Amino acid sequence: MKMAIFASGRGSNAEAIIEASKAGLLEAEVSFIICDKPGAKVNERALKKEIPVYECVPRNFDSKQQYEEQIIRHLREAEIDFIVLAGYMRLVGPTLLKAFEGKIVNIHPSLLPSFPGLDAIGQALDAGVKVTGVTIHYVDEGMDTGPIIAQKAIRIENGETRQSLTRKIQAVEHQLYPQTLQMICEQKRMEGEYHG
Ligand code: GAR
Repeated sequence: MKMAIFASGRGSNAEAIIEASKAGLLEAEVSFIICDKPGAKVNERALKKEIPVYECVPRNFDSKQQYEEQIIRHLREAEIDFIVLAGYMRLVGPTLLKAFEGKIVNIHPSLLPSFPGLDAIGQALDAGVKVTGVTIHYVDEGMDTGPIIAQKAIRIENGETRQSLTRKIQAVEHQLYPQTLQMICEQKRMEGEYHG
């Protein structure tokens, strides 16, 4: 299976997935990264791991449709089977959703459906909940909606800070995302959708 990772920021999840793939723990190839933010840290991390990055910046296109059509050209050229959103801070539009129906997954730092959207970690702290977590789900047209594939709960301790909670969430993400992607690969292989 050939994957493309979409990222907008630090790229720590992208790096964890690339490492799992290179170590053979994830039987999928990460072909390239699509990054919508010029100069984002993910660029540096990917290049260190010798994974190409395509910067596709929406403001350089007349419409979201044209932006996504350009991305689809890259994906088709490289025969990408699966899209992995890892801190891609943008809603996927109908053009890309239709072209890769059922083949786009996302990670979100909360137990969805709680705290969708921006700053899920801050939302959980503000709400005073004692448990939050990480969700991996298929992407649909909504904001952090779509069928849930995997979740892991994380306890919020008394005196928990944004920094300490972020650290705990990211540690879980870096394990759960590669493992879940591997589970998807195995399922697809059993269904005979991909060979190799
Ligand atoms: C991750 O915590 C991910 O769950 C979150 O952005 C962070 C990206 O970190 N995604 C969302 O909030 C999506 N709604 P990273 O760039 O270091 O992988």
